[in-house]
Amino acid sequence: MIIASNFKTNHTRQSTRIYMERVRQFAQETKSAQDILVFPPATALDTYTLPENIRVGVQNAYPVEKGSFTGEIGLEQIEEFGLRTILVGHSERRHILGESQELCAQKYDYFKAKGFEIVYCIGEPEEVRKAGIDAVLTYNLEQLEGIDLGYEKLIVAYEPVWAIGTGLSASVEQIDETLTKLRETIKAPLLYGGSVKPATTKEILEIENCDGVLVGTASWDVDNFCQMIEIADTL
Ligand code: PGA
Repeated sequence: MIIASNFKTNHTRQSTRIYMERVRQFAQETKSAQDILVFPPATALDTYTLPENIRVGVQNAYPVEKGSFTGEIGLEQIEEFGLRTILVGHSERRHILGESQELCAQKYDYFKAKGFEIVYCIGEPEEVRKAGIDAVLTYNLEQLEGIDLGYEKLIVAYEPVWAIGTGLSASVEQIDETLTKLRETIKAPLLYGGSVKPATTKEILEIENCDGVLVGTASWDVDNFCQMIEIADTL
């Protein structure tokens, strides 16, 4: 399974180093078989010596090698650290930073061409969820516009906007129904994200079409994150 942590705007370079060392040790001691992904903020990117199943990625990047894009990072800055994993289309980038579907698809194409492992995020806002499962499906499928679903290094994270950072996770039934429907279109690994906590990790990972979790808030504490890895190891 894939257990991923999105630091968002949390942690420093120093605390990320401590965090990664703890995760590395934990996974080694427990011989964890999980794919463990961690997305620190851009200022904490660094060179890490990690086994193949533990990977550090970037939360965002502009689809260029380098250039004049103030405040952004490009391929050159990522490659300095040998990183090969990226998050694209996170809801906070779409809804707070105003990233369009077109830009998400451009980023996807660019980093796909560079051979990156891409965690591509989709998810509906609350009013769409209230309108029912058909509306939910239509909305989520629209966020796949321009995305090559046949790319072998694609992972899709279904993260309902109303469940992100709210403490209000989607129910097991809602996740199950949505992932089952998305599975008809998406053959890539499917993650769920949105207020996942150690206490809810088992029931979410047990959902048939769920291949892992993408965790924000609860994962910022390394002990919580290790606990989630441990739960995945028991399944
Ligand atoms: P959350 O964030 O776990 O804090 O809800 C999930 C995410 O945004 O990936």
